[in-house]
Amino acid sequence: MVEVATSLLSIKEQDCVQTIYNLEVAGANYFHIDVMDGKFVKNDTTEIMRKYTETIKQITSTPIEVHLMVEDVEAYSKAYIDMQVKTIIFHIESIKSEKEIMKLLSYIKENNVQVGLSINPNTEIEKLYPYLPYLHRILVMSVEPGKGGQKFIETSTEKIKRLSRFIYENGYDIDIEVDGGINDKTAKEVVDAGANILVVGSYMINSSNYKEAMQKLK
Ligand code: DX5
Ligand code: ZN
Repeated sequence: MVEVATSLLSIKEQDCVQTIYNLEVAGANYFHIDVMDGKFVKNDTTEIMRKYTETIKQITSTPIEVHLMVEDVEAYSKAYIDMQVKTIIFHIESIKSEKEIMKLLSYIKENNVQVGLSINPNTEIEKLYPYLPYLHRILVMSVEPGKGGQKFIETSTEKIKRLSRFIYENGYDIDIEVDGGINDKTAKEVVDAGANILVVGSYMINSSNYKEAMQKLK
C-alpha cells in the first residue's frame, strides 16, 4: 500500500495552518519536514521548519518525518527528538565515517525515534547496504536536495529497482521512500520499481484539489 508524505517546503507561510489541515483531510500519511542548514545545501529553512513542526503538533496527530539536509546531524537530531517527531532521516553524504553513522543511528533509536538514511542522486545505492539492518526507512533523492519544484531524475528508478531487489533478497523490512519531482506519472514509475512511500511537495501544493491529487498518487 503506497503512503504519501507531504513536504511543506513550497507552502505559503501565512497559509500554513489551513494548508496543514487541508493536507491532513486529504489523507497525508506523514508530514515531511525539510530541514536545510545553509551549509549541506545552500538554503536555510531551520527556523521555518521548526515553526511548522510546532504548528503541526498543535493541530494534528499525523506523524512527522524530518529530512535533515544538514552538516551537524547530531545537533538537529537532538532538537527534533525533543519535539517528539516520529522519524528522523539524515544524509549518508553528511557523515564522514561508518562509525559516526552507526553512533547517530543508535542515538536516534535510543530516543524512541525511527531512523532513516537519505542518499543523493549521484551516490551509488551500494553505499547504504552496510546500514540496512539498522534502518526503518531509506529516502532515495530523485532530485538534488535543496529546493522544491525540480524535475524528477530518471536514473532514480533503476536505483530503486536495485535497492528493492537487494532488500527483498536479504529479507529486510525497510520502507523505500522517494523524494523529489514526484507527480502522478513519476509516482507510478517509482512504485513499480519498489518504492512504498512518496514525498510530494509542489505537485500537491500546486494542485487545485488535494484529495484528488492524493488519490492519483495512491
Ligand atoms: C528537496 C526536498 C524535497 C522537496 C520535494 O531538497 O528534500 O522534499 O521539498 O518537493 P517537490 O515534490 O516539489 O520536488
Ligand atoms: Zn525532503
